[in-house]
Amino acid sequence: MEEPTSKAAALLLLLLLHSCLADHVFLSSQLASQVLVRSRRANQMFEEMKPGNLERECLEEICDHEEAREVFEQKDKTAHFWAKYLDCKGTQLTRTQQNIQLVRHCIQGQCISGQGLSYLGNINITKTGRMCQFWRHSFPHPINREFNVSEPNSILQENFCRNPDNRPEGPWCFTQDPTVQKEACRVPRCGQSFVPPTVAPRPVKDTQCLPSYGVDYTGNLDETLGGHTCLQWSSPQAVALSRDKEFIPEVTLDGNKCRNPDNDPEGPWCYVEVSGNITVDYCALELCEDPLTREEQTTETEGRERSVLGTTRKQLFNPRSFGGGESECGQRPLFEKKGVKDRKEEELLESYREKRIVGGDDAEVASAPWQVMLYKRSPQELLCGASLISDQWILTAAHCILYPPWNKNFTSNDILVRLGKHNRAKFERGTEKIVAIDEIIVHPKYNWKENLNRDIALLHMRRPVVFTDEIHPVCLPSRNVAQLLMTEGYKGRVTGWGNLKETWNPAARNLPTVLQQIHLPIVDQNICRSSTSVKITDNMFCAGYKPEESQRGDACEGDSGGPFVMKHPAENRWYQIGIVSWGEGCDRDGKYGFYTHLFRMTRWMMKVIEKTGQDEE
Ligand SMILES: *[C@@H]1O[C@H](CO)[C@@H](O)[C@H](O)[C@H]1NC(C)=O
Ligand SMILES: *[C@@H]1O[C@H](CO)[C@@H](O)[C@H](O)[C@H]1NC(C)=O
Ligand SMILES: *[C@@H]1O[C@H](CO)[C@@H](O)[C@H](O)[C@H]1NC(C)=O
Ligand SMILES: *[C@@H]1O[C@H](CO)[C@@H](O)[C@H](O)[C@H]1NC(C)=O
Repeated sequence: MEEPTSKAAALLLLLLLHSCLADHVFLSSQLASQVLVRSRRANQMFEEMKPGNLERECLEEICDHEEAREVFEQKDKTAHFWAKYLDCKGTQLTRTQQNIQLVRHCIQGQCISGQGLSYLGNINITKTGRMCQFWRHSFPHPINREFNVSEPNSILQENFCRNPDNRPEGPWCFTQDPTVQKEACRVPRCGQSFVPPTVAPRPVKDTQCLPSYGVDYTGNLDETLGGHTCLQWSSPQAVALSRDKEFIPEVTLDGNKCRNPDNDPEGPWCYVEVSGNITVDYCALELCEDPLTREEQTTETEGRERSVLGTTRKQLFNPRSFGGGESECGQRPLFEKKGVKDRKEEELLESYREKRIVGGDDAEVASAPWQVMLYKRSPQELLCGASLISDQWILTAAHCILYPPWNKNFTSNDILVRLGKHNRAKFERGTEKIVAIDEIIVHPKYNWKENLNRDIALLHMRRPVVFTDEIHPVCLPSRNVAQLLMTEGYKGRVTGWGNLKETWNPAARNLPTVLQQIHLPIVDQNICRSSTSVKITDNMFCAGYKPEESQRGDACEGDSGGPFVMKHPAENRWYQIGIVSWGEGCDRDGKYGFYTHLFRMTRWMMKVIEKTGQDEE
């Protein structure tokens, strides 16, 4: 056991070294070409003053404030220069040939002598090896709350380290790590040799991942993610709750250890007691990636699929806890139920045969009756999209509810849902319903700290909603439906009141009057993975066209939380396949939109929804 591990470690070290060296070479040549660009930029600034004067008065010789004022003629320009001049030790260094060069390079921003106020270089990695966030992006950190990058002559370029607020530790940046907001950078010091920083490799997980959802796990962990101690599987409460579950007989339920007897895709779990209530919680065990396609051979033992007469579709949920609507889901009162097609749906069906590019546009009235608006109570504000899955439950993205880097952590009292809407801003008397919610359940394994893995939350409405022509639930996918529809090139429809046409670019924040829709093809998972530096998991998929570079976005709220739906051709029903998670504008530096893979979340949904049902008995 010892030997192969150390061999693997040695190999890994070799690979890391190799990539470090490669990066180093890359950065050096990059640096060289950037120096050229930079001095050109610096020269443009020099044009604003009397040519030659600055050289003569303040670089080749030490000048005083009065002399600097004569060079610049204007008060604010002088002040700006003087701060830099002091920071570059312009009043201190004796003017040897070498020091003249140092002061010049410092003023031009190539290197720093003091706090780096004039630094204009292109170092974009922090001292601990974290990548810098682009100054004009708001993800993961909301930079625009502190700095306005749009101001003319802003020094906040790209994601380069800068010192806009005179920090003593020198140039710094916001990092791309959601858990670390700001960090200082190591940048060249004038007159000293410099080795450019490199990106720190992802920490190598010391724990091995569990294959097959951890069904074979026989370890001793007995504590959950929520910090609760597991109940004994043999306790009366656990036995009662397990009674009508289809557990795999081979999984032995030892003592109170985390186990996965029902092949839950979220891995080993157990029953826990939380303030007097028995509920289910997962354990902190790392699962291996497990693409859907690998499961095709396994038999259909979906614990809860109920067969409803012959060849019709199976119901996934128990109406007692889920509420009504599953049998009629996905069939819109003003379309499928009347035998009418909406103007664009043919394009989706066509995509199952051929691919064609069409932009987004206004949705037809009541063509997405499951679309929900998530609304902040006060001050009133559109937060996110969401979708109706029964007369009691609503689905949205977890980051619409909880995202600590933005100080976002809503409770059910902060939020209202608006259903049956078409017009974004108008109160639609007679058709829209505004409903309060009494429970928010964010996926316990939602990972805001790294990559928004499992970006999903369930909202329970205080009162069941009555379905109408404009309010109607969408279907949730079974394994068969997911396997049939989730094919590269097949198109889904995304709806929302954000800025769909610009594909997640609310930079030009001209919000639409009515609900927008766009059709986007599902993209091969390997292309999704290689389009971004973010770690993509099998709980996500991506869709979209490769947009122009100029279309790349900036802020990133808009359509989050809304549904990605597809129409099942044989069943003539609409299924929600994904939840809009994050687009490229959010610094997902790829070119596609990323969606929560809904089928992979259905087991979790069933568990928490059934729990709630039992509470109500
Ligand atoms: C840092 O900047 C260089 C030069 O502009 C660029 O090529 C590189 O991709 C950037 N790296 C990161 C991590 O943003
Ligand atoms: C940022 O600066 C630009 C240009 O000066 C200005 O138009 C814009 O209103 C500013 N934004 C904020 C939030 O202050
Ligand atoms: C426990 O159940 C009671 C009654 O159903 C409920 O009022 C309470 O909020 C629950 N506690 C928690 C922590 O969920
Ligand atoms: C969110 O708020 C709840 C209380 O409303 C708190 O218990 C929880 O720890 C908060 N979560 C985070 C990640 O800040």
